[in-house]
Amino acid sequence: MKMAFLFLNAILIASLATFAYASDPSPLQDFCVAVNDADAAVFVNGKICKNPNKVVAEDFFFSGLNKAGNTSNAVGSRVTAVNVNQIAGLNTLGISLVRIDYAPYGLNPPHTHPRATEILVVIEGTLYVGFVTSNPANPNLKNKLFTKYLYPETYSCSQKV
Ligand SMILES: *[C@@H]1O[C@H](CO)[C@@H](O)[C@H](O)[C@H]1NC(C)=O
Repeated sequence: MKMAFLFLNAILIASLATFAYASDPSPLQDFCVAVNDADAAVFVNGKICKNPNKVVAEDFFFSGLNKAGNTSNAVGSRVTAVNVNQIAGLNTLGISLVRIDYAPYGLNPPHTHPRATEILVVIEGTLYVGFVTSNPANPNLKNKLFTKYLYPETYSCSQKV
């Protein structure tokens, strides 16, 4: 009897150990929908979290990227951004999206996206894109320019540092 109890105990301990090592640790929470009410609740990465019980589908929704931006300006381009300010549910998720409209010969002035990577997709026309390495480990690659012409269905990934 004592032997059987020990055996069962061994099985129980073995199965607990399996559960303990079988999965990744869970995140603290799935989302932190941004709200502007400072009394609401918890700060995560600078924004305040909406009470999860009050989150609705609209917190993860945006429409309007089908509308062309007005490119009548000095640089001949218009960036329409979709980030945490348009989709509050993107808060802390590390993802955003933009639509950029260009007039002929329009440009998006050089800029940086610290610790972020972007992917470009051209829907219509031709776009000359590029990035400059800023602080690579290899000194031969310091300030090296990488450029490419993009056409519809051509994708380019650039790491901005
Ligand atoms: C586009 O912007 C220009 C300059 O601000 C403005 O004059 C024009 O009315 C705008 N066009 C549209 C369709 O909003």
